[in-house]
Amino acid sequence: MTAPLIDPFQRAISYLRVSVTDRCDFRCVYCMAENMTFLPKKELLTLEELDRLCSTFIRLGVEKLRITGGEPLVRRDIMKFFQKMSRHLDSGALKELTLTTNGSQLERFAGDLYAAGVRRVNVSLDTLDDQKFADVTRWGRLPQVLRGIDAAQAAGLRVKLNAVALKGFNEPELFQMTEWCASRDMDLTWIEVMPMGDLGNEDRLDQYWSLKDLRRQLAERYTLTDLTERTGGPARYVRIEETGQKIGFITPLTHNFCESCNRVRLTCTGELFMCLGQEDRADLRAPLRASEDDALLEQAIRDAITLKPKGHDFDYSRQTVAGQMTRHMSHTGG
Ligand code: GTP
Ligand code: 5AD
Ligand code: SF4
Repeated sequence: MTAPLIDPFQRAISYLRVSVTDRCDFRCVYCMAENMTFLPKKELLTLEELDRLCSTFIRLGVEKLRITGGEPLVRRDIMKFFQKMSRHLDSGALKELTLTTNGSQLERFAGDLYAAGVRRVNVSLDTLDDQKFADVTRWGRLPQVLRGIDAAQAAGLRVKLNAVALKGFNEPELFQMTEWCASRDMDLTWIEVMPMGDLGNEDRLDQYWSLKDLRRQLAERYTLTDLTERTGGPARYVRIEETGQKIGFITPLTHNFCESCNRVRLTCTGELFMCLGQEDRADLRAPLRASEDDALLEQAIRDAITLKPKGHDFDYSRQTVAGQMTRHMSHTGG
């Protein structure tokens, strides 16, 4: 029996987030600069290399695999990768194979994802207003994403919406978004905006809308019941009694969830990041390419996990931005 991955703070690592590309067809203002330079394709791990790495993590106890990007569905042949990973669902070693997507390509791929064993997708969508959607993504088209969500639901996928809480931007849409999601039987998770990436003149403090405030606004209109059940991710949930739907809160700023962290992040070039908000990382591409011996790769992963820090240092509470990371969110996949 292989010993599970345990970090220096006695947290078991059971969740791997894999960024399969740094590219995206949108440029959300809090995520990317308008003129991003993307990696040359030859820098990326091949699908075979990603397969070997993910399979090694699964042998070491990873039960939840989330494919991210950039936008994972813009990587050519990515469906082959999902199909390959589904063997770990069949064997029972993997409990969940899923992805976080901007939805732009879902219309095309929803059926294939379901066939590969995906049952749930998280779609990032911050507004239901066409013009605001075009503004926040810099050129995305909302109807394309809505068609993607329709296709996902029609294919049998459970859809959860992720919205980054942005002061003055989607704040006025709080109830509309809640009710739209309820009418479509979708849960909705709100995320506090994190100071990631060197985005020039974006002002983090001006954008920041605390989820304490968002929750207070919801509680003024609806009856909220705290839920103890979790999805294995960082969100804490409430149920809105009037609609029955779940609302999630991802609160790195107002309620740090690092003590129960169970995840690490693999970039598309084979670096393993231990935390979204810290620089601690290890290169897995070199050991991957140096030898065919999986025992050496396992050891490289075990060594990497010893670097996992206690948590991030994001903090806006003194009206300044602390813990800022120059790395873009798309590098480590959120
Ligand atoms: P579920 O399986 O539905 O719970 O999804 P998830 O929350 O694990 O994954 P998702 O990709 O939907 O994550 C949403 C966002 O939460 C990410 O894009 C990040 O912004 C944030 N997030 C996830 N994990 C962490 C973490 O470990 N630290 C911090 N600070 N933020 C995180
Ligand atoms: N803060 C919080 N969430 C972010 N995302 C991207 N950048 C940020 C940020 N700076 C979210 C996206 C998507 C997920 C992949 O990460 O909205 O839901
Ligand atoms: Fe693309 Fe997602 Fe970043 Fe938006 S948040 S630019 S959709 S990776």
